[in-house]
Amino acid sequence: MHRFEGRRALVTAAGSGLGRGVGFRLAREGARVSLWDRDVELLEAAAKEAAAEGLSIEIQIVDMLDANAIAAAARELEENSGGPDVLVNNIGGSLHTPFKFLEQSDGDWELVMAANVTACVRTTRAVLPGMVTRGYGRIINMGSKAGRFGSLFAGANYVASKGAMQAFTLQIAQEFGPNGITCNSVCPGAVVTPRVERLLAERQSEEERRRVLESIPVRRHGQVEDIAAAIAYIASEEAGFVNGATLDVNGGQAMSI
Ligand SMILES: NC(=O)c1ccc[n+]([C@@H]2O[C@H](COP(=O)([O-])OP(=O)(O)OC[C@H]3O[C@@H](n4cnc5c(N)ncnc54)[C@H](O)[C@@H]3O)[C@@H](O)[C@H]2O)c1
Repeated sequence: MHRFEGRRALVTAAGSGLGRGVGFRLAREGARVSLWDRDVELLEAAAKEAAAEGLSIEIQIVDMLDANAIAAAARELEENSGGPDVLVNNIGGSLHTPFKFLEQSDGDWELVMAANVTACVRTTRAVLPGMVTRGYGRIINMGSKAGRFGSLFAGANYVASKGAMQAFTLQIAQEFGPNGITCNSVCPGAVVTPRVERLLAERQSEEERRRVLESIPVRRHGQVEDIAAAIAYIASEEAGFVNGATLDVNGGQAMSI
């Protein structure tokens, strides 16, 4: 499939984990992709792998907690390649803050809100004017099962931040739909990246992990490619009538009507 031929995509926090998987998926489907991350080694490794595969992937060192860095990188992208048609707001996570609410400090809340909400708001604000001018855009916010149903291993700050992004998604969808821009959220259940593997090992016993797995109707955790495939659909041109939607990608672990 070459659904993204001629399209440019930006994926934030994409040196590893889900972001990297999404970026590679879009590039394999023909997009020219820009990966942002603050970790230079991860970015360089991704660039090397992309070059070996002949993929059109560019890397940019950006600390997503730095407003000026986001603005400068977005400006550079706009000037060099005309700005993205697809934005995947992937930056986020519980950032190893405590699980228990009463153990979370103001600093834990500020950090998690800064990464999961403010950084995505800033990136969206930086790329939207270009999308409006071109009359086309796909914005995908990386939500989480946690933001809709609560979490067994990430705390209230993370759950609240992903809930905020759900609400943000609806309003951007409403306001920019008339400009040919859709905004949707994709909400993964636990995807066993190295980081999540460490978190699960630390916060759940073997017995708890076995019970969680039994509660997932498809009887497995998610893979990066499960999420990348869902995002590739919502980011594609053919998903133009899907707007303000939430796509749960959790194997049926949490469902709603
Ligand atoms: N992995 C899961 O199970 C899961 C489930 C639901 C939702 N999510 C969401 O998916 C997104 C990605 O999760 P992941 O598990 O792949 O993440 P991850 O923790 O594996 O990190 C991905 C990347 O973020 C980069 N990063 C961290 N802080 C940064 C900063 N300030 N500036 C720039 N880059 C920074 C890291 O260098 C890393 O390469 C997050 O929004 C997360 O909340 C993940």
